[in-house]
Amino acid sequence: MAADFDEAPPEVHHYESLAEVPWDIQIYWKQRYRIFSKYDEGVWLTDDAWFGVTPEPVADKIAEDIAATAPEGRVILVDAFAGAGGNTIAFAKTGKWKRIYAIEKNPAVLRCAKHNAQVYGVENKITWFEGDCFEILKNQLKDLAPYCVLFASPPWGGPGYRSDRVFDLHTMEPYPLAKLYDEYSAFTKHLALYLPRTSDLKQLAEVVEEDRKATVVHYCIEGASKAFSSDSE
Ligand SMILES: C[S@@+](CC[C@H](N)C(=O)[O-])C[C@H]1O[C@@H](n2cnc3c(N)ncnc32)[C@H](O)[C@@H]1O
Repeated sequence: MAADFDEAPPEVHHYESLAEVPWDIQIYWKQRYRIFSKYDEGVWLTDDAWFGVTPEPVADKIAEDIAATAPEGRVILVDAFAGAGGNTIAFAKTGKWKRIYAIEKNPAVLRCAKHNAQVYGVENKITWFEGDCFEILKNQLKDLAPYCVLFASPPWGGPGYRSDRVFDLHTMEPYPLAKLYDEYSAFTKHLALYLPRTSDLKQLAEVVEEDRKATVVHYCIEGASKAFSSDSE
């Protein structure tokens, strides 16, 4: 199916030259092919989505790692914060999952994710949900929980994401680590969180119950540190 290039909502853009790009996202636009290798095929983003999208090489590696470690019978991947589709597309590309469920509460950003999945030719593997992931997990997806692995790349807002030497996961906004961990653990024990590279690992260790195990992976692009992904089972 051809991507719907003609129907972008007003807050969605495909910038083709630096002159069109708002100053605060120019640094991201200059790295556009690292973020989406198919950028020139018409990738859509809202201006805010540029800040949160997982660069394609990192998304691909995370998808490969989660596919390799998923327990037998876990055939559905739920992406709780789909954003513009960076991780969702990478999960779909692995061919590992019977279905990807991707949740995003911002309708314009969700349009980007759907469109970008078309650009990458993986839209038929994904079921999209517009709304709040905590509600959707509890209400619409709860019966599927035994078959799911949950991935979440939450917003990293709040004080200090860029400036603090150690990122405080208790003050992460709008969802502190404890809320994410508690809500997601009630849904499934098989979950992976994508967190800032400077995250306080002691805080992470403290939320994981004693009888559970968490694995922390540090993802880098060409030697530059990007983020942690923490997996628990
Ligand atoms: C860091 S971005 C995700 C980026 C995504 N992994 C990607 O690669 O494009 C976080 C996203 O979560 C969405 N979001 C925030 N709260 C949400 C909620 N309660 N339920 C679903 N989506 C939410 C935001 O609109 C934002 O697009």
